[in-house]
Amino acid sequence: MSDAEPIALDPPEELSISLGEAMFTQRAIRRLDPDRPIAAADLKIMMDAASKAPTGANIQPVRMLVVTDRAKIASFGELYHEAWWAKRADAYGWEPDQEIPADSPYRMPALLASEMAAAPAVVLVFSHDAPGVSVYPTVQNLMLAARGLGVGSVLTTLHASVMDRVNDLFSVPTDVRFHCCVPLGYPRGNFGSTHRLPTSGTTFLDSWGSPPPW
Ligand SMILES: Cc1cc2nc3c(=O)[nH]c(=O)nc-3n(C[C@H](O)[C@H](O)[C@H](O)COP(=O)(O)O)c2cc1C
Repeated sequence: MSDAEPIALDPPEELSISLGEAMFTQRAIRRLDPDRPIAAADLKIMMDAASKAPTGANIQPVRMLVVTDRAKIASFGELYHEAWWAKRADAYGWEPDQEIPADSPYRMPALLASEMAAAPAVVLVFSHDAPGVSVYPTVQNLMLAARGLGVGSVLTTLHASVMDRVNDLFSVPTDVRFHCCVPLGYPRGNFGSTHRLPTSGTTFLDSWGSPPPW
């Protein structure tokens, strides 16, 4: 799968915000500044952080394709737009680019579908046929490192109908499996806080149904 030898890496000084701040303010950033490229050194930090995530039996099956070529991102953006609306057609019978109500949770994802083509960078996440459980810790590390560098990100997926064309666009071999794509860019806006269920609504202690005292 890879001839690369494992290497030790020191934590980069650039990731200086606290772990707590990164984890508690990391949220989906879909409004990306198209005019502010991400430095290659920062992309490397994110990929290095991603490489430090655990995988089952340390097999390290994840492969990532970082795309910064604007023409390729523009082509990918067209496919992403088609894929996003194909998913909504499957689920709700929606037409491409139809009006989405202001209070719909799909309003911002639809905006991303239109703006993906202008993202400064996109990371496509593949594996050597690994289950998602061995892939998504890598993706979370990538997104937390992005947060640490002030770079916005959001985990997104594609629709099967565009996969052959995506693979052609990036010369992806047939023996790897696509998992997700993560656009990256400096936010037009703030990271802010997230709205999540409280622990008391998601977590039990010692026995199913037994709420934790904290
Ligand atoms: C498995 C998964 C699939 C997702 N797919 C999309 C997507 O297709 N488009 C999109 O804009 N956001 C997508 N997201 C982002 C979620 O909508 C987002 O993380 C969630 O709404 C929480 O947003 P917040 O962190 O800003 O609160 C996905 C997230 C996950 C974990």
